[in-house]
Amino acid sequence: MQYDFGMIGLGTMGRNFLLNVADRGYAAAGLDLNADQVASLNEEAGHRKIQATTDQSEFLQMLKTPRTIMLLVPAGKVVDAVIEGLLPHLDQGDLIIDGGNSHYADTSRRAEALQSQGFRFLGVGVSGGEEGARKGPSIMPGGDFSAWEQVQPILEAVSAKVDREPCVAYMGKGAAGHYVKMVHNGIEYGMMQLLAETYDMLRRIGGFTNAEIHETFSEWNKGPLQSFLVEITAEIFAQADDKIEGADLIDAILDKAKQKGTGKWTSQTAMDLGVPVPTIDAAVTMRGLSSFWRFRQTAAQKYGSFPTERIENKETFAVQLEHALLFSFILTYAQGLHLLSVASEEMDLDLRLSDTAKIWRGGCIIRAELLEDIRQAYAGNPDLANLVGSPVFRGRLKTLLPSVRAVVETATQNGIPLLALSSALHYFEALRAARLPLNLVQAQRDYFGAHTYERLDADGTFHTEWGK
Ligand code: 6PG
Repeated sequence: MQYDFGMIGLGTMGRNFLLNVADRGYAAAGLDLNADQVASLNEEAGHRKIQATTDQSEFLQMLKTPRTIMLLVPAGKVVDAVIEGLLPHLDQGDLIIDGGNSHYADTSRRAEALQSQGFRFLGVGVSGGEEGARKGPSIMPGGDFSAWEQVQPILEAVSAKVDREPCVAYMGKGAAGHYVKMVHNGIEYGMMQLLAETYDMLRRIGGFTNAEIHETFSEWNKGPLQSFLVEITAEIFAQADDKIEGADLIDAILDKAKQKGTGKWTSQTAMDLGVPVPTIDAAVTMRGLSSFWRFRQTAAQKYGSFPTERIENKETFAVQLEHALLFSFILTYAQGLHLLSVASEEMDLDLRLSDTAKIWRGGCIIRAELLEDIRQAYAGNPDLANLVGSPVFRGRLKTLLPSVRAVVETATQNGIPLLALSSALHYFEALRAARLPLNLVQAQRDYFGAHTYERLDADGTFHTEWGK
């Protein structure tokens, strides 16, 4: 029997993806060094056309040529090691797909090296976690277009569907797939932090119980905030602690968030390209701040607690927060997509942002009802630099603005950190400001460094001997 598709790495993601491929009628071969993982997949395979092995040469012989081999192994050195081990045994034209969260620079390097040796390579972002991999992820492929065409039917079959459209599309050249997936994760970080800040406001200012927070997020999930992250957040507040009778699990979880790095990479590349993504930066920073847990405990004692003032009307407050969250979700997508539009130009990725928004509508962690409007905004104007400039969002942002200002004000008065939410507000206020005080920064630069400045009323560059 000849197999259509090979998977290397049968951890949860690889195994689930392979089962998904087999469920769509393809014969799927798996390779992993761990004999237990191989045995358990063969057992679970049942009637499906799946064969897993620990033997690389057996695995390679099983595959139809040109071979299609996907890697779902930890990003970094492991990817290089696996590719190196494969290469001497592959034939020209075979296709390697890296489906992990690889850094885009690694993907560019691998694509060049493999192409120069006559192999084909795709860097593919896969989002949706374990369940997505099993039932339908959002898939972001980038690289050689002919390689995409070879694997397109399989990826379309396994991907999530929205309105019967597959949540996979060719993203663009080179490392486009992994770049888009990285920015997806940056947006994911932003949205998660915004939800955390909203929870803090509901609890500390609104006096909402966990049950009420569950209700509130569940209600929001029926409206314009409908999204995977709001949905799971609602569920988290309904989860009982299995260790303490009558307690909620959320209250027992240490307030220290970890990270594998994709959010930080988004901030790093945004800085390099000069594109502001302050809400994503704030989310990365807050994970960092949360990790200084011991320091915070001591500082909290030294500085004492700040008295918070409970609001009078819970319902009105919840509506304000709903608006503030929606506003800042839109601004987080706006920042990520703005970064993509600049990166596409600068790095020659050839992205089409309406396709990006389209395939994010289902399967992935940042899937949300909003993405259909975002898709339309880019479909109507492919050159749109920033969603803030789109007529699709202008009216909505204006309507939501007073609530965001009120929420940020309340938080400030009560000593509650809202780094992400307030960054979304200030990002917007700055982007829509005809005049910012950065004329002063130019003056200062010219004062101490003779860096020159431009004038509003004349062309050219100027220098002043300040103070003389
Ligand atoms: C996805 C997720 C996935 C993973 C993140 C978590 O799209 O399915 O983004 O890639 O959950 O890597 O990232 P952190 O560990 O950095 O929070």
